[in-house]
Amino acid sequence: MADGRPRLAILISGRGSNMEAIATAARDPAYPAEVALVVSSRASAPGLARAAARGLPTLVLAPRDFPTRETFDAALDQALAAHRIDYVALAGFMRVLTAPFVRRWKGRIVNIHPSLLPRHPGLDTHARALAAGDAETGCTVHEVTEELDSGPILAQARVPIRPGETPEALAARVLAEENRIYPAAIADFIRGREA
Ligand code: GRF
Repeated sequence: MADGRPRLAILISGRGSNMEAIATAARDPAYPAEVALVVSSRASAPGLARAAARGLPTLVLAPRDFPTRETFDAALDQALAAHRIDYVALAGFMRVLTAPFVRRWKGRIVNIHPSLLPRHPGLDTHARALAAGDAETGCTVHEVTEELDSGPILAQARVPIRPGETPEALAARVLAEENRIYPAAIADFIRGREA
């Protein structure tokens, strides 16, 4: 239901804990956006069922239904336009977006990444932080630009690495920080843009 706030779409591929953290924060009318759409690249994503259970509008766009990255991104862009989306938050969206799409949404699209960027862009960040002997890791909210995991940083949280820690244990502790900082960083970003 449109409520006059800027309209945020959240793009997911999996569990959806960040999507849920944002959706919970946005229940507060003082939050500067409403969650107007959740898009999943996987029909089986647990986050999709979680979004539907919250009564959020959902949409599945499966890459295999599109012949190219360009046609997938064009369909995504059309869906965002159809839902009158103002801002996009990537939240575990396992899909690299094309340069034209990113240019079109420049200044209105953000991502969360599970490392202290610029350290450890890409995948398997926790295993890589452990293998590198890093004393700490964390998470980064950043604007999405054409180069992967390297747009302007909006917020970070640090997580000290414990001796002998497994990647899974570390991931769980970082995820708690992600769920904490992402809703707030999106709010600050949108307030700054709308001011
Ligand atoms: C998070 O660790 C996020 O940083 C990464 O993918 C994971 C998504 O988790 N990009 P969830 O689906 O939000 O629970």
